[in-house]
Amino acid sequence: MLYIHTTVKRIVHGSGCIKNAPAEARRLGGTRALIVTDPGIAKAGVQKPLEDALEQDGIPWSLYDQAELEPTVDSIASCAAAAKDFKADVIFGIGGGSALDTTKAAAVLLTNDGPISQYFGMDKVPLPLPPVILVPTTAGTGSEMTSISVLADTKKGGKWGVVSDHMYADAVLLDPELTLGLPPAVTAMTGIDAFVHAMESFVGKAATPITDALNLQAMKLIAQSIRRAYVNGSDLAARADMLYASAMAGMGFSNTQNGIIHAVGTAVPREYHLPHGLLMACLAPLCMKFNHMAQPEKYAEIARILGEKNSDDTLALAERAAERMHALLRDLDINAGLRPYGVKRGDLPLIAERAASNARLIGNNPRPATAGQILTLLESSYL
Ligand SMILES: [Fe+2]
Repeated sequence: MLYIHTTVKRIVHGSGCIKNAPAEARRLGGTRALIVTDPGIAKAGVQKPLEDALEQDGIPWSLYDQAELEPTVDSIASCAAAAKDFKADVIFGIGGGSALDTTKAAAVLLTNDGPISQYFGMDKVPLPLPPVILVPTTAGTGSEMTSISVLADTKKGGKWGVVSDHMYADAVLLDPELTLGLPPAVTAMTGIDAFVHAMESFVGKAATPITDALNLQAMKLIAQSIRRAYVNGSDLAARADMLYASAMAGMGFSNTQNGIIHAVGTAVPREYHLPHGLLMACLAPLCMKFNHMAQPEKYAEIARILGEKNSDDTLALAERAAERMHALLRDLDINAGLRPYGVKRGDLPLIAERAASNARLIGNNPRPATAGQILTLLESSYL
């Protein structure tokens, strides 16, 4: 077997490290910066410390605050046009996964012809990108650490990924102070999403000793700090743990894939408008129960990380991982299963069908899963 591990080029981290943004820009030869974010972040002013730092250092900047929650091919073109209009030679992405995915994809179009849709798939981007610096303000997606941008194709339908090593950021700034304002519900949902990234990468078929190390540490940090971050948003140490964990999980799954939880969660029709992190959380216990016998050692380890103290045999411990996850969700006021969130039983066959056909994700799951098995699994929570 041959494995290749890739990751971002430079990680600057620590409380208040956003002040280092101008130095990072200059190190990369940047003299004019475009800041990319979404309207919600811009309204809340989360990107202000970045603007202030650039201002103080005399680096001219312009704000593009139209990144979409589900970035489309058209929105990528408009973001790239904003960078060209401003003659930006360094691009900052600041925000959650959508803002960062928009930044990575728009930067592709600054050195490569559009539309971005021609690069859907693996390694199709021909030329390297201009300097890109990513600053996450949620602790969940890990997008700052990955080489993928997930975009909606409004013409042909569906969501597609542009994946290229060129899309790894030149620098990532991890500043937990920027995450202090995240509301409790978002903290909980995005934090569980990060845990699920680490877990699905850890138990998946493509796991390596390198990704295992990243994913184990990510899960440990989340298990020890997510409750604190949820009940006390200003707990800076807990916020820092969550940000590190999200980034490490991103470094892990960027080199593997996710698994059945992401396959089922992303198959739920968009019309329900359920946040990604919520779907990951509410589906986790069911899918962990389904998977545990395929990787008993690893699920036993997950149970211990989630606080299981009993030292039963491996299989009994592995089975309790799902129960421990359930207990964590209860503390975070998240219900398990799709039913509490209004997903109609009649939609389950469609969800199961779509999930089973997601070869990228199901192909990495430790247990093979057919549409019939996934349907049985989902139905079990509707009895
Ligand atoms: Fe996710």
